[in-house]
Amino acid sequence: MFTQYFGLKFNPFSKELDEKDIYMSKDSKELVSRLEYIKRTKGFFLLTAESGFGKTTVLRKFSGALNPGLFKVCYSALSSLTVMDFYRSLVFRMGETPAYQKIRMFEQLQRLIYDSYYEKKVTPVFILDEAQSLSGGVLEDLRMIFNFKMDSENPFITIIAGNPNIRRKLQLSVNQALRQRITGNYHMTGLSRVEIGDYISSRLVLAGAPDTKIFTDAALESLFASSGGALRLVNTLAAASLTCACSRNLNAVDEEIVFQADRDIEI
Ligand SMILES: Nc1ncnc2c1ncn2[C@@H]1O[C@H](COP(=O)(O)OP(=O)(O)OP(=O)(O)O)[C@@H](O)[C@H]1O
Ligand SMILES: [Mg+2]
Repeated sequence: MFTQYFGLKFNPFSKELDEKDIYMSKDSKELVSRLEYIKRTKGFFLLTAESGFGKTTVLRKFSGALNPGLFKVCYSALSSLTVMDFYRSLVFRMGETPAYQKIRMFEQLQRLIYDSYYEKKVTPVFILDEAQSLSGGVLEDLRMIFNFKMDSENPFITIIAGNPNIRRKLQLSVNQALRQRITGNYHMTGLSRVEIGDYISSRLVLAGAPDTKIFTDAALESLFASSGGALRLVNTLAAASLTCACSRNLNAVDEEIVFQADRDIEI
């Protein structure tokens, strides 16, 4: 294993990542600041990015930092649900056993949100991850579930997160009413070329590397070109590059190693 070879305490590119160690790129910081804003305004927020750019990771950091006395997070990534199942899952996450009929569940959900916000002073935060797979029926119902006091107040935060297909779905005229209610939105673009270098060395520092300059500048350039700044790919490629360098008894990773690693992991 390359960890021992490079004197690392653990694999710094593993997906097991403590919230405190999440790298705050320009992209992530911008997203968090927009989410901070929606904490005050409430309502719908749309988050998009291609796969592996860090949507779920930053949402995890954001929700982990919310004061549980003021916010109740209901996270759902089961988006390929029927409307009934969707209602059920939200009611369940709000802490009650769902009623049988759809209309009862609808009322139950609205009461739960209402009571949480107005009685308990706790804002429910619904995170609908993988939202690109939400059915048309669920999208159509969303604005009705979250219609309070004749649509004059937002006693909730609902974050709709997914790949750019969700943006396309929301552009359909049938979803216009929901789209108009989105008060905040952000599209993540991943790590910049400069950030890749900073990211790699910060991960190596975290893992206690004696040498944080294992990757040459040309290797970083290749990492950027191959990953397009997508963190999941950067991690996979960086770990594969270290494995490759280790197997060849090299102390550094150059662009040729990254190229080889890229071929090794190609599916
Ligand atoms: N800010 C970050 N700091 C460190 N690692 C990160 C960060 N963001 C993402 N990663 C790494 O990249 C991987 C993919 O990130 P994440 O699951 O958040 O992407 P995603 O945009 O939600 O992808 P998908 O659309 O496939 O669900 C994570 O498992 C984590 O290892
Ligand atoms: Mg995700």
